[in-house]
Amino acid sequence: MEIKCGVKLIGELKVPGDKSISHRAIILGAISEGTTLVSNILFSDDTIRTIECFAALGVEITVNKSENKVTVKGAGLHGLKMPANTLKCYNSGTTMRLLSGLLSAQKFTSKIVGDESLNKRPMKRIIDPLRLMGANISGTENNSPPLIINPTDKLMGIDYILPVASAQVKSSILLASLYCKGTTNIYEDKITRDHTERMLEYFHADIEYSSSRTRIKAVDRLIAKDIFVPGDISSASFFIVAASILEGSSVLIKDVGLNPSRTGIIQVLKSMGASIEIQNKSVKNNEPFGDIKVVYKTLKGVVLSEDIIGTLIDEIPIIAVAAAFAEGKTVIRNAEELKYKETNRIKAIAMELRKMDCKIEELEDGLIIYGGKKLKGNILNSHNDHRIAMALTIAALKASTSSTIENHNCVDISYPNFYNDLEKLMVNI
Ligand code: S3P
Repeated sequence: MEIKCGVKLIGELKVPGDKSISHRAIILGAISEGTTLVSNILFSDDTIRTIECFAALGVEITVNKSENKVTVKGAGLHGLKMPANTLKCYNSGTTMRLLSGLLSAQKFTSKIVGDESLNKRPMKRIIDPLRLMGANISGTENNSPPLIINPTDKLMGIDYILPVASAQVKSSILLASLYCKGTTNIYEDKITRDHTERMLEYFHADIEYSSSRTRIKAVDRLIAKDIFVPGDISSASFFIVAASILEGSSVLIKDVGLNPSRTGIIQVLKSMGASIEIQNKSVKNNEPFGDIKVVYKTLKGVVLSEDIIGTLIDEIPIIAVAAAFAEGKTVIRNAEELKYKETNRIKAIAMELRKMDCKIEELEDGLIIYGGKKLKGNILNSHNDHRIAMALTIAALKASTSSTIENHNCVDISYPNFYNDLEKLMVNI
């Protein structure tokens, strides 16, 4: 895909529904009693995987693609059926990790597999706590997928300190805990997204949560309720940064999720000097959302604090791009988790921005970016990672010559319409 430089972004847009919330709406809808109508759901490669898996588990899901809606007919906590075949998650880590927790508590055997990239990602982080609960789950010799889960009727609540800051691990444990004897307490010293907790509460689970502790106990049933999925702040972040760095830009992004466990990107960009204003704040199904207005303003480098990393973990590639065009040095540390995403994002973004002449140092747990230099266009590679593809596209818009993004189709993982939406806002200068 060729990306021309010399543009600004002007106008209004709506980014697609939040990926994390979309997965959870299907999962919790599937095990509730009653019907869940999910509106503004994200239809992307990853969320379609979750829909397919639950269809294979016998859940009736009606898809209305043109209106971004699905209707999930809840099977209840004990109504899932043994799948006829291996459940395929392809690239979706959220599908695999959350499903593993839920399937650990079912009365049938299941097998889950990913694509080449997902099959290399760490699964010991879910196998360990699920086994502590009594689950019968195993992977390959080095704990990789395919995961095989056999039934057990002895699941027990656990007290667990999360060894890695991961909402997927926390959510996997929470889903298994819905079927446990006793109480589960999960402790975290670093903040991770809390969409599962919020949705479980909304569906009448017995749950209490704060940023450092979640307590959950089994209930007889979850009650289905309709869900509005706010726009994905991770998808919005590409436009927030683009409008901040492309001179003359002004963009309004409507109905974006503003859950505080996800808004670190806004705090960081504001501390870099960005002009970002939140308008029309509202709350639906326990999730805050609102409009984000961004106007071009020169940015300066910043040192990211350790405690903010969990709230912007998926935005680090695009923050690196903002930093490359900001005056001075930006330091990102405590982000080792980036190595275990769809690709090693520390390596990938450093390698590609270097091709544009950016001075960037790769650390074991982050990046140091020396910004402010004019960057040139080049042939850039997405490393088959959707967030790297979109971040590089925004960098390319600001470069002094045009660029090519190789393997750009992976944007379908989270934002199939990304290039169309971008095109609509682009104005030549
Ligand atoms: C997600 C949690 C995060 C995030 C991923 C989605 C979720 O992963 O990076 O894109 O939906 O729970 P980890 O929990 O592995 O940090």
